[in-house]
Amino acid sequence: MTTPIPQPPAVPFLGNVGNIDREVPLNSFLLLAKTYGEIFQLNMLGQQMVFVATRDLVNEVSDEKRFQKRVTGGLAQVRNLVGDGLFTAQPEEPNWGIAHRLLMPAFGTLAVKNMMEPMRDIVSQLLLKWERFGSETTIDPSDDFTRVAFDAISFCSMSYRMNSFYNADLPPFAVAMADFLIESGNRASRPRVVQAVMRGTNAKYEMDMEMMRSLAQKIVATRKEHPIAKHDLLDTMLNSRDPQTGQGMTEESIAQNLMTFLIAGHETSSGMMTFMVYYLLKNPEKMRKLRAQVDEVLGGRPVQYEDFDKLTYLVAVMRETLRMCPPASMRSVVSLEDTTLGSGKYAIKRGTPIRVMVWEMHRDRKVWGDDADEFKPERMMDGKFEALPPNAWQPFGYGLRGCIGRAFAWQEVLLVMASIVQKFDLALVDPSYTMQLKQTLTVKPKGMRIRATLHQGRE
Ligand code: HEM
Repeated sequence: MTTPIPQPPAVPFLGNVGNIDREVPLNSFLLLAKTYGEIFQLNMLGQQMVFVATRDLVNEVSDEKRFQKRVTGGLAQVRNLVGDGLFTAQPEEPNWGIAHRLLMPAFGTLAVKNMMEPMRDIVSQLLLKWERFGSETTIDPSDDFTRVAFDAISFCSMSYRMNSFYNADLPPFAVAMADFLIESGNRASRPRVVQAVMRGTNAKYEMDMEMMRSLAQKIVATRKEHPIAKHDLLDTMLNSRDPQTGQGMTEESIAQNLMTFLIAGHETSSGMMTFMVYYLLKNPEKMRKLRAQVDEVLGGRPVQYEDFDKLTYLVAVMRETLRMCPPASMRSVVSLEDTTLGSGKYAIKRGTPIRVMVWEMHRDRKVWGDDADEFKPERMMDGKFEALPPNAWQPFGYGLRGCIGRAFAWQEVLLVMASIVQKFDLALVDPSYTMQLKQTLTVKPKGMRIRATLHQGRE
């Protein structure tokens, strides 16, 4: 005998769409998890979806023999631009396998280590900007981390300079992408008939996509016409063959994956860095501890790859930030068979989309204790991180469809944050600021402003 999965009352046709906040859907899902507990379900325009919120249930749906990623909801709409690119491909689409096998080594730890200097080139632009602007200037850290992450992924993976730091506004590509992602999310909860009459919104959506597509196509065409000696990711995509099928990537697939890297490679890392600054500013004793370690390890010189292993507290701060605020707050799987969850408690029909609530599961009291809502990097070091139960910490997804850019993001954030902490004293412009969220495909803090003052003798 199974237990029914709880669901808030639904209305005909729209189902539970009205239960979800349009601006920050995550807030509604979190509220529902507080109300209903470990599992609940919603009807979204006729589609039944299950949400799981605890480590035990997430651990179950992380079994790749029983469950598989399925691109649904807002992510399915992102396919309008990037089709079967790595992030948005359905498991059965062959282009995923080709791109995965070609690009896994290109995103491996060793390959990423070789990107250290191009990454530093971009990071130095951020440091110089904050230094030159001085302590009187109000900084939007989310904007500047977007610039860093966006320029770093484009320069390191395709040797293309976005030059975001040389413009007051964010690059048009980044603006078009943010609008496109918000609209993709909205489309997932809009009835088709309503969508069809929203002519202005639809035209803008098409224009944004066209803008991004033409830049990606231009980058590919330019490289084909003017090959360069550098063996970057674009070169791998253009010139390598899949060892399994002998096939190369089509030009369309290359452009789609370039856009995928630009989307997946900047939203998440920039959100992570903004969350990190927030938690460090709200916990000054943790900031002091971090600064002391950075100073001890670096002794005033620029951070090198070899230092990363010694920056154990910085690593703990990064892990704890991703626990408290995983920028990719949810992912989707489907069950491959009719099955049950919760050791036989809840019946799940084959093919039902299951949303993995990573954000909520990262606060599971059973794993993290009663202080799960507190920022405590100490819980992530001295062997405690390694001793966590399987799948308790999942900011990068899991298994075959886990994040391909993890090593890249890790190195980038280490480099940026070690350099910032070493050089600057940071402060909130409004010390009473408490975190509000902004949501596109990912979440990041909204409306946070800081000041950065160069330490004496650190120029
Ligand atoms: C997949 C998180 C940085 C590229 C994923 C997934 C998560 C994730 C949760 C799985 C999504 C799912 O199951 O639907 C993050 C976080 C990052 C980060 C938290 C930074 C802090 C990056 C970077 C890149 C990247 C820098 C650069 C290219 C990708 C791609 C996939 C992916 C291509 C799809 C992989 C596949 O399905 O084969 N990421 N990501 N990510 N990520 Fe990241």
